[in-house]
This record gives sequence, structure tokens and C-alpha cells, in this order.
Amino acid sequence: MSRPIATNEPAGYAIVTGGGSGIGRALCERLAGGGWAVAVADIDSEAAQATADSLRRLPNAQAAAAPVTATPVAATPVAVALDVGDPVQWRRLIANLQARWPRLDLLINNAGVLAGGPLADCPAESLQRVVRTNLLGAMYGARAAAAWLMESSAARGANPGPAGGPRPGVINVASIFAAVAPPNFAAYSASKAGLVAFSESLRGELAPNGLNVTVGLPGAVDTGLYRHAEFAHAGIARAAARFVERAELTPQAVADGLLRAAGRGELYAVLGRRARWYARLKRWLPAATARRVAAQARREIDAPEA
Ligand code: NAI
Repeated sequence: MSRPIATNEPAGYAIVTGGGSGIGRALCERLAGGGWAVAVADIDSEAAQATADSLRRLPNAQAAAAPVTATPVAATPVAVALDVGDPVQWRRLIANLQARWPRLDLLINNAGVLAGGPLADCPAESLQRVVRTNLLGAMYGARAAAAWLMESSAARGANPGPAGGPRPGVINVASIFAAVAPPNFAAYSASKAGLVAFSESLRGELAPNGLNVTVGLPGAVDTGLYRHAEFAHAGIARAAARFVERAELTPQAVADGLLRAAGRGELYAVLGRRARWYARLKRWLPAATARRVAAQARREIDAPEA
């Protein structure tokens, strides 16, 4: 059997925030497996390092398994401690990567946190943390990376980037809660709805530079998001736990769905059967859907402990 010929140039260069866990980690694995150089950025530096270490073991395994004749070799993955809500840290990260990488092809704003509870019971700090991480974090990231993404796009010229991979640009990870916002998740849902509007605006801004913007709206995935969430009371925590028990998506399925949508240049990637159903209902019957979602969420929150 002929061995694949490895090329020294990575397929692309990507930053993935929240890459230390869950969906972000799966995105890093898929990209590195496809020969991309990846910067794993996470506020949890140990988690970022653990992902980067696991990626280092991937390229050879991929090269041996892949039935292709030319496999790009991923550059050494970089683990970076980054609080996405701090614009100074973003500037430092971009400057550090510019010293290592010839270009930047993709920014994935995936880092996110969850908090739930009746609005009056949510500490202001908790609301700020959610909006700062989920919405401002993505804005700061895109703002810091935009000039380099545009320069890289101009340097690539007519070359659209790696065949079969995501198009160069930005992927933002929102949530189905951006479309159907249940009670007691006001800050989280608002941050994700804001992220969708931000993505729509950014897409128009970056398109003339040959860059794509895709926003993901996944349904429930069983990840650390729920274990690290702040819940104002036990009923909300129980409702969130039941939501996760019904998770129909794996982090890998979300990563594949996002990268596929970005490969096709799609703006929205609604992922999961239930999420697609709710997104459709919301489009057809917005007020009735909001009422139905609210009633269902209230029933789950009021349900006694099993
Ligand atoms: P996760 O908790 O497993 O991963 C989130 C990662 O973000 C963690 O590694 C965490 O350390 C990192 N992070 C948190 N704050 C940060 C900050 N300020 N700066 C940098 N990194 C930070 O959660 P998951 O589920 O993988 O979440 C990824 C994204 O997917 C989030 O934006 C989340 O809102 C979104 N999402 C998750 C769904 C789910 O059901 N798990 C459903 C829909 C969307």
C-alpha cells in the first residue's frame, strides 16, 4: 500500500477559543486531524495544554490512516491562556501568533459560559460574566484578528483555501437559545442572540475581503458547560440537567456540522433535529413558539426532584 506523501505546509491556521473542553476541543481535533495548525486558547491553561498535547499525537496517526497521496502536516499546536473578555490579551495573542505563523485563516469564537435563574436572583457579576464571555469575547476576538485575516486573504488571492475544509474567516458558536429563549436563561439567551446579530453584521463587513462568517446554533450537547454553570436555584439546575440528559448531539457532531457549514459558506448552522424543529417553528409562529417554550421550561423547573 502506498504511503501518503506529507507536505510541510499546514492546511490552514486557526485559533479556537474554549479549545480546552467540549465542542472547542472537538473542533481542535477535527482541524488538527485535517492538517491544520491550531492555537488552542482557553482561560483554563491546563485544559488548553491537555488539548494541545492530545493534538500532537494526531497528525501521524492521520497520515498513516488517510488514503490520500498528499497529507499536509499540521504545525505544532500552540496552547495559549486567554480570557476572551480581555481585549489586551487578544492583542497579545495575535502578536505572538504573528511571530510564529505566516498567516491566519480561521478564528473560531467558541468559548462560552452558562448561568441561569430568575433575573432578580442573578447577581450582576453573573450577568456581566455571561455577556462578557459569550458576546464581547467574540467581538474582541474578531476585532483583534480582522486585519490579519484580511491580509492573509489578500495574500491567498484567488486560492480559496484548503479543499473540503472550512472557508477562511470566522465561526461563532451561538446556541439554539438565540432563537428560542426559555425563561430563566435571559443573559445566556441574549448573549447568544447578540452573537447571531453580530455574525450577520460581520459577514457583510468581511465578505468583500473574501472571508466567510458562519454562526452555529447547536441544540443540547453533554459538556462541561452545565457542570461549570451558575444556577440561582436547584429547580433551574434540575431543568438544565434534564435538558442535557436529552442531548442529541456529541461535541464531535457539532464540530463536524460547524466545519461543514463553514466549508459551504453558510451563514447559519442550526445543529440537531430538535434545534432545527424549534428554529423552524420560531420562523413560522414566533409568538406561539415563545409561549410554548416558556410553558415547557416552567413545567420542567417546577417538576419535583425525580
Ligand atoms: P465547555 O464548558 O465544555 O467548554 C467551554 C470552554 O470555554 C471551557 O474550556 C472554558 O474553560 C472556556 N472558557 C470559559 N470562559 C472563558 C473565557 N473567558 N476565555 C476563554 N475561554 C473560556 O462547554 P461547551 O458546551 O463545549 O461550549 C462551547 C460553546 O458551545 C459555548 O459557547 C456554548 O455556549 C456553546 N453551546 C453549547 C451547548 C451545549 O449544550 N453544551 C449548546 C449550544 C451552544
